[in-house]
Order: sequence, then structure tokens, then C-alpha cells
Amino acid sequence: MKPKITVIGSSNTDMICRVRSIPRPGETILGNDFLIVQGGKGANQAVAAARAGGDVTFITCVGNDAFGQQAIEAYQKDGINTSCIQKIDGTSTGVALINVADSGENSIAVAPGANAHLTPEKMEEFRDVILSSEIVLMQLEIPLETVNYVTRLANQANIPVVLNPAPARIIDKEIMSMLTLITPNEHEAKLISGHLSFACSEMESASEIQNQGVESVIVTMGSKGAYFIDGISHGMVKGIKVQAVDTTGAGDTFNGYLVVEWAKNKNLPEAIKKANKAAAISVTRMGAQPSIPYANELAEF
Ligand code: RIB
Repeated sequence: MKPKITVIGSSNTDMICRVRSIPRPGETILGNDFLIVQGGKGANQAVAAARAGGDVTFITCVGNDAFGQQAIEAYQKDGINTSCIQKIDGTSTGVALINVADSGENSIAVAPGANAHLTPEKMEEFRDVILSSEIVLMQLEIPLETVNYVTRLANQANIPVVLNPAPARIIDKEIMSMLTLITPNEHEAKLISGHLSFACSEMESASEIQNQGVESVIVTMGSKGAYFIDGISHGMVKGIKVQAVDTTGAGDTFNGYLVVEWAKNKNLPEAIKKANKAAAISVTRMGAQPSIPYANELAEF
């Protein structure tokens, strides 16, 4: 049986320019090739969860425009249930302007467009879908009130909520205590834990975050791996070093794979291992969604 995952989040069209290095403020540089691909943290995680073998429903808003239509068709090709995707008149599909440097690092600016229309009122329409999920997965590229609303709803029904707190924002204490799992990267972990100093280790931030009431915490650290604490144990799951071409969407790949593997075997370190592998493969390729591997590729890696 495929685990039933509901992903609630953003859908963007990514416009990517390959550059030697990320331009500084005021600087104009000549880049290399230009690509338009599907992106958005919510969409990337939905696609990753589907390619990992989940039965995925994606709740998002797109504009009533060509980009929105292309996005829906792409999600359908990945077997994602798109019946909860709304097209919003008078606003564009979310767009992300991305520079990818030769080192694989990136800089991203997002114009949310229709993503800002994913309001708590809209969630009421999808109440039954949310309440029939095995796991709800969200990020922070949509209105915070929506994340709060869904967390309360799922929590009352004992449905696990996984939050990837990206881009980082301060989350209400009450909401933190309702989360089953939170998956910040090192920088997000520092912000959420309130320990902004460089000296603060991933262990300290993870335990500070857990003290805010979250059941389990995973701090992702790219190729170094991920540190986790759950109710049973804690530790580091080693990452995989690869030649990075583009790190865009690596965190999203990790989260999509993580929830599916976790739903299947309830073993967090094992799920992290698989998610690390999927993320490592994704950074060896260009673009967010085009780089997300299919489950069979993990066996060959
Ligand atoms: O996490 C990567 C994503 O962030 C990109 O696909 C872009 O759309 C932004 O949302």
C-alpha cells in the first residue's frame, strides 16, 4: 500500500540562470544558459514524495495562466492527485528567479503570486482530504495562518504533521507543540531555536527546538548528513559527498523521500538514510523538479 501523503504548499515556475558566481548587490554579470523548470518548495516535495512511492495529493494555488496549467500537467505526469489545485484569476503563478553558480550554490528570490491565495478559508474546502491523510507535509512558502490552521486541524485528528520550516520564520509556540516532526537546515534551526551564534551546534539547536514541544527534530546539513532527535534516540546519519551541479531543491527532495520512507517503516534513521541518498542524487543534476530521482535510481546509486 502506498502511504497517503498530503502536501500543502507553494507551486512556482523556476527561472534559472547559470552564473560563474552569485552576483553581489549592484553587480551585473554575464551568465551562461537559461532554463525554465517546475519548482516551489511545496511542489518539489510533492513530486519527491510521489517519485518515492507515495500516494500524493497536492494542495496549492496557481495563476489562471500558462505556467499554472503547465505545472498541473507536470504534477499529473508524476501521478499526483491535482483535484485540490485551484487556479486563481487575476494573479500569476508563483515565480522564482534563481542564480546557480558553478559551485552548485544558489540564490533565490520568489514572487509568491497565487501562493499567497492559499488561505485558511480554502483549507476548509479540503478538510476531508486533509483528514484522510496518513501524513501532512508543509513548508513556509505559503501564508503562516494556513500552516497554523492545518496543523491544528490535523493535530485534533491525530494525523502527523511534518513541517519543513523553509524559508525560515518564527513559529508560534502552540503550533510547535503540535508538530510531529520538523526538518530545518542548520541556518533555519538556529533561527527557530533562538541560538543565532555560530558556536551553537546542530545538537544544541535540535534539543532547543525539541524543548519547544516538537516530538522529533531533524537538522539537515547537506553533504555532511542530518542530525536527528526523536522520542527514542538521537544521532547523526552521514550524508553522501557528490560533485554538486545545482543544490536547488535538494532539501525538498530530502523531505519528500523522508515522509514516504518514514510512513512505510516508522524508522527515522533509516528514512533519513534514503532521503540523504535521494538528495545527493538531486544535486548532481540541474533544476528542482527535473533533478528529483525516481525510487529505482536509489538502488543503482
Ligand atoms: O527549495 C527550492 C525551491 O525554492 C525552488 O524550486 C524555488 O521555486 C523556491 O521555492
